[in-house]
Amino acid sequence: MALIKTPSDIKTLKRGGAILSDILRHAAGACRVGTSTLELDRMVRDEMVKAGGKPSFLGYRISSEDPPYPSAVCISVNDEVVHGLAEPERFLQDGDIVSLDVGMWYEGLATDMATTVLIGDVKPDVKRLVADTRDALVCGLKAVKAGATVADIGAAIEDRLLPGGYGIVRDLVGHGVGHDVHEEPQIPNYREPRAPRVRLEEGMVLAIEPMVALGSWKVHMKDDGWTIVTKDGSPAAHFEVTIAVTKKGYDLITPWPDR
Ligand code: MF3
Ligand code: CO
Repeated sequence: MALIKTPSDIKTLKRGGAILSDILRHAAGACRVGTSTLELDRMVRDEMVKAGGKPSFLGYRISSEDPPYPSAVCISVNDEVVHGLAEPERFLQDGDIVSLDVGMWYEGLATDMATTVLIGDVKPDVKRLVADTRDALVCGLKAVKAGATVADIGAAIEDRLLPGGYGIVRDLVGHGVGHDVHEEPQIPNYREPRAPRVRLEEGMVLAIEPMVALGSWKVHMKDDGWTIVTKDGSPAAHFEVTIAVTKKGYDLITPWPDR
């Protein structure tokens, strides 16, 4: 299993991750009432190419039967959890929450990150969902260090979210990343006793990404073959960073876009 990246790979990943974070910050800053999803996608695409990178989601297939993903940025609004599409005539509206998820190839290596943005006047319970999901990712990161396990990450995220009564999405999980868009191991955002026990090792590069609904955790795919929505129509938030595991903790590969 090629799970361990070399120090030189990690340096390259960090350069790509810094660029990706800047691009996500610009895209998040461009989100307001009336913003066109298609323009957001074009902006992200252009900035990646200008920086010497390549969008890693554009044309991506999760399995060989899937249609290729048509956008550079996944734009998931309200009840859309992940993999929402940039489309003509799709504009952001007052009160929306929008997850922007971006991935980029840079010098042969892939990084992956996401943030959720508030548009205009968002209801207090939905605002709280977004803030708690971000904080759950922070809690998950605190569980990371060589010698801990993948399960410790999910347990920390679950412990942060369950008191709030949220639904933690179970059908989608975090993942290794770097040589591919998705690598082993899978990283559930909840306790999964049946999962194989994977120990974290220095040099593993992981994308940790809690996806959390205000209502039930149950999701399904829309007819477009990509967009994952909550079954009960409740809004969902999503945050993601790429990190490298170190002896004592982790190195952030994709700096937080909101700091
Ligand atoms: N960060 C998302 C994930 O890891 C991006 C998926 S890429 C897509 O699942 F191309 F499948 F949309
Ligand atoms: Co990801």
